[in-house]
Amino acid sequence: MVKAVVLGAAGGIGQPLSLLLKINPLVSELGLFDIVNTPGVAADLSHISTPSKTAGALPPNDGLKATLKGAQVVVIPAGVPRKPGMTRDDLFKINAGIVRDLAIAIATTCPKAFVLVISNPVNSTVPIVAEILKKHGVFDPKRLFGVTTLDVVRASTFVAETLGDQKLAPKVTVPVVGGHSGVTILPLLSQSQPPLPAGFADDKRDELVKRIQFGGDEVVKAKDGAGSATLSMAYAGERFADLIIRAIGGEKGIVAPSYVNLAADKDGGEGLKKAIGKELEYFSARVEIGPEGVEKILPLGNLSTYEEGLLKAALPELETNIAKGVEFIQTAK
Ligand code: NAD
Ligand code: LMR
Repeated sequence: MVKAVVLGAAGGIGQPLSLLLKINPLVSELGLFDIVNTPGVAADLSHISTPSKTAGALPPNDGLKATLKGAQVVVIPAGVPRKPGMTRDDLFKINAGIVRDLAIAIATTCPKAFVLVISNPVNSTVPIVAEILKKHGVFDPKRLFGVTTLDVVRASTFVAETLGDQKLAPKVTVPVVGGHSGVTILPLLSQSQPPLPAGFADDKRDELVKRIQFGGDEVVKAKDGAGSATLSMAYAGERFADLIIRAIGGEKGIVAPSYVNLAADKDGGEGLKKAIGKELEYFSARVEIGPEGVEKILPLGNLSTYEEGLLKAALPELETNIAKGVEFIQTAK
């Protein structure tokens, strides 16, 4: 049983995510923080007849620190979402500062918590959190996670659709690696289980890869100015948080996709760096998680020639996004 905290709990993701965490039997205490509306969200959720206690706080009276006190899992969906025509990187200007300030509070209040970052651009916000934790001398790469589960959820759904059977969606597994924006999202369709039909046409494969890479844009466009994915993200975020909570509880064999600092790996990520052919500090892959956090970053497996091309195309953007997050903290006055 853990204390879980949601920062940005009154938002489009925050509210349904908090609802799902409220009904998770492994959560004993749920702390909700936002700059608006958390007393109302907490009061509403507190009437649900599950064992967990719920409390909501706003910034006055040190509400953030009071909420974070004793937290073992902190999920961060705080920040602005995209509107049509924007990239995730366009959100950096506003969200970088929000995430930085929340990370400072985590570093000084619950430095051992597992931190799950949803706020975009994830490729940069995760390095921001890491740099803040480093500055405070409390960085443990094994406990910091960029949430990329939605990419994996989308890949399962779209592959099931391609196979013509929606009922397969919960069973389809496709590793999605790299990062969380456009071309940095690398669906490894050659490793899909069940596999795509033999002789699946290249143009169909390209279409499917594009749809997974730009699934977020599909929702942004459909919402037409009212934000980005919230409900599917709440589902994905809770699914990932639940795996983390179960790993903390000692369950063995927990494997989840996540964007992590490669120093979290046993070998310092050397194997993965070799496989991607670049000295990157962060990459999304399937990771094995235990009670102390990341135990192992799993290898990428065999990539097709086409996927090797996708990987090559992803690296420059990923590298730039990482450097932008790191520099935001390192060069701050
Ligand atoms: P939203 O605007 O509906 O909600 C964001 C919430 O954050 C608001 O309630 C706002 O008050 C709150 N907030 C702002 N500043 C804060 C601060 N300093 N402290 C605490 N809370 C603060 O947006 P949303 O749709 O919930 O999206 C949130 C973020 O999640 C966006 O950056 C979006 O791009 C990102 N996102 C990521 C993924 C992913 O796969 N990782 C998926 C969907 C959305
Ligand atoms: C997503 O993938 O849905 C999120 O990253 C939100 C977005 O901006 O697309």
